[in-house]
Amino acid sequence: MEDRTVILYASVDGQTLKICNKLRDVFKQNKQTVSLFSINNFNDAVTNYDKLIIGASIRYGVHNKKVIDFINTNKKELDTIKTAFFSVNLVARKAEKSTPVTNPYVIKFFKSIDWTPNIVEVFAGKLDYKKYPFFDRIMIQFIMWMTKGPTNTSTEIEYTNWDKVTAFGEQLKNM
Ligand SMILES: Cc1cc2nc3c(=O)[nH]c(=O)nc-3n(C[C@H](O)[C@H](O)[C@H](O)COP(=O)(O)O)c2cc1C
Repeated sequence: MEDRTVILYASVDGQTLKICNKLRDVFKQNKQTVSLFSINNFNDAVTNYDKLIIGASIRYGVHNKKVIDFINTNKKELDTIKTAFFSVNLVARKAEKSTPVTNPYVIKFFKSIDWTPNIVEVFAGKLDYKKYPFFDRIMIQFIMWMTKGPTNTSTEIEYTNWDKVTAFGEQLKNM
């Protein structure tokens, strides 16, 4: 029987969701169906699935609290199925911080949570100043200045490496 797969996401400006849609396409090309839910709308039992993938973006150093709560609440069930996690952040645009073992947010996340998914990945997100409200724009500008990134507020750059996303999708399919 075909694996039942679900992807859960926490996305504010849509980049994590865009990555999830790409992952879903990889599954679809192989005629496998995947359900996709925002972490806010998922009320199903984890054990109704064979594979569960969670994607979450970083805002001010942390992943969405609902994701953390979900993992803590479902820890026992998650350990009975195949699971994967990926983080989306801007620090990962730097080659030396673009892997699960070198990205500071991923390292910190797994130190703070009692869960070991089968596969972990990290992707660089999107910088789009015009989308950010005043306060966020100033803060991101500051973060970018600190990390030697673009500070011009007309900048719109998608740092996501789509080949890496496709490769991750293939890995998930075969997990
Ligand atoms: C308010 C705000 C705070 C952010 N904080 C961080 C941060 O602390 N570190 C980082 O690497 N990226 C940070 N980012 C960048 C996001 O992780 C990146 O833009 C990502 O693509 C957002 O994904 P989403 O659209 O799915 O939410 C921040 C972005 C915003 C808008």
